[in-house]
Amino acid sequence: MNTYNVDLNNLPKHIAIIMDGNGRWAKQRGLPRTAGHFKGADNLKRITHFCYDIGIKTLTLYAFSTENWKRPQDEVDALFNLFYEKLQDYKALMGDRKAVVRFLGDKKPLSEKLRNKMREIERDSLKYLDGGFTFNFAINYGSRDEILKATREVAELYKNGDIDIEDINEKLFSNHLYTYGLPDPDLMIRPSGEQRISNFLLWQSAYTEFYYSNVLWPDFSPKMLADAIIEYQKRNRRYGGV
Ligand code: IPE
Ligand code: IPE
Ligand code: MG
Repeated sequence: MNTYNVDLNNLPKHIAIIMDGNGRWAKQRGLPRTAGHFKGADNLKRITHFCYDIGIKTLTLYAFSTENWKRPQDEVDALFNLFYEKLQDYKALMGDRKAVVRFLGDKKPLSEKLRNKMREIERDSLKYLDGGFTFNFAINYGSRDEILKATREVAELYKNGDIDIEDINEKLFSNHLYTYGLPDPDLMIRPSGEQRISNFLLWQSAYTEFYYSNVLWPDFSPKMLADAIIEYQKRNRRYGGV
């Protein structure tokens, strides 16, 4: 395996990626936007394998935001059909790689067929808890929505007398986010030239290192990911200290 000179002893524990630029990739080729989403899904496989193979422990991919419902219905339908197909073919997606899979986001508005498939994959993957790789797929994820969900749950605990006001701290609150139990992302990558967070992991990215690339997601290669990690490895993370 080519690791492209990444220092394997100093890897980010958790990488988050905003998979952006599929539509523009297709447009540049005179293709429908959905063709870009298909190509983006192929790239997801390539990048996930690379992360697993070099020893990244947690990978989180942003696939559909709570704001993406604003898109034309046929694009939304195509995206959800694609998610279903890829999940159905999960073995082909992951090969023999053993990953715990978690879906981050509000599953309620999704079709029952898709929700059942997601639950089945989450459940089956629990046998890989010792495998050391967690693959998070953010579908219908919005960080503000997630923070409000956590706030409601914590308020409920207080209302029921299960906790006092003083018990509300970062740890307790984090346990009510979709990412409970996961480390915060060390490195967040956004291809496609946009430099914004688009409602992704707002709470979790308090001290995340950001890396932007102008390359569109379907073209974002393992070598480019390695370059992002190498850049990350040069950064000095101070967490407010000196
Ligand atoms: C990202 O690519 C995929 C999703 C948001 C589902 P886009 O579809 O946003 O691609 P651009 O930004 O229009 O190029
Ligand atoms: C962010 O991309 C969401 C995903 C990649 C899933 P968008 O294309 O939706 O973000 P904006 O609209 O450019 O901020
Ligand atoms: Mg976009």
